[in-house]
Amino acid sequence: MPERLNLIAPDDWHVHLRDNAMLTRVVGRTARLFQRAIVMPNLRPPVTTVKAAEGYRNRILDAVPSGLSFTPLMTAYLTDGSDPDELERGFTTGVFTAAKLYPANATTNSAAGVTDLSRIDSVLSAMQRIGMPLLIHGEVTDSDVDIFDREATFIDCHLIPLRERYPDLKIVLEHITTSQAVDYVGSADRNLAATITPHHLHINRNAMFAGGLRSDFYCLPVAKREQHRLALRRAATSGDCRFFLGTDSAPHSREAKETACGCAGIFNAPHALESYALAFEQEGAIDRLEGFASLHGPAFYGLPVNQTRVCLAKVDQLVPELIDGLVPFHAGEILPWTMISSS
Ligand code: NCD
Ligand code: ZN
Repeated sequence: MPERLNLIAPDDWHVHLRDNAMLTRVVGRTARLFQRAIVMPNLRPPVTTVKAAEGYRNRILDAVPSGLSFTPLMTAYLTDGSDPDELERGFTTGVFTAAKLYPANATTNSAAGVTDLSRIDSVLSAMQRIGMPLLIHGEVTDSDVDIFDREATFIDCHLIPLRERYPDLKIVLEHITTSQAVDYVGSADRNLAATITPHHLHINRNAMFAGGLRSDFYCLPVAKREQHRLALRRAATSGDCRFFLGTDSAPHSREAKETACGCAGIFNAPHALESYALAFEQEGAIDRLEGFASLHGPAFYGLPVNQTRVCLAKVDQLVPELIDGLVPFHAGEILPWTMISSS
């Protein structure tokens, strides 16, 4: 019998499920692997109110294929005009699990994001008081800053001062891509964690330019140099509970990827767990996958660990070139792990 890996059911602490037809296409891919997921609010229009989040949550639940049990954890999209009372109401009634900070124009559907952190002081004070986590897309948007430096610059210019102002605010630095982020998060004594995607564990920036311009490897924050990928691998597999799983699966239609100005985002949901398993195995740390995938996230969010389990088998699978019309991460590759059951 092939080797098996039996894990407490994992959660995805950062995913884009989109809406309408795209939601229906992709949600089962996440729900099949993950028990819960932190759902990003960057819809058009963004999810800024309790009512909008409730409506979106219902649409997600309606779209989950029957037989799968999946809990979407909703987030509020912060804008310059966010209302602290609305956020508090959403958090205390269990509709919002966290709020997402997109610096305005940092990424897909972030035009309505925050233009200056000083504009949301009252919101951040309320979040700190009630223990509501702040999820950060940590990149500066200044076009004078090199795109490969935008995460490190954000940490120095915004995150460090923000944490000095709000030492009790719980913060997740999302989808980290640099050794600077690894070092900074790893040096924080409390209230700071980071998610790491599967693609940033597997690719460096060369992937976008291998033999031509490859938009399927373009995402934000953009993949960096090899030394950064290696730092992310060390962090993810270290057993340090400040680092946990967040796929940032971000599907876009073929037309939106294959165009002169292609959208940022990698659709990795279909094989996310197998992709992480491969990275952990390559690092000789498969025994630490459960902590990263299933334990560190709930501990940070103060949520219970899942009761169910999943099983991966050491069985090769060929990742299709297209899944539901979308190019998945690892398309055309053979992955050595296959999810065989959840219970
Ligand atoms: C995300 C998207 O498409 O919504 N894209 C991405 O490259 N990750 C937005 C984001 O998380 O930055
Ligand atoms: Zn994202």
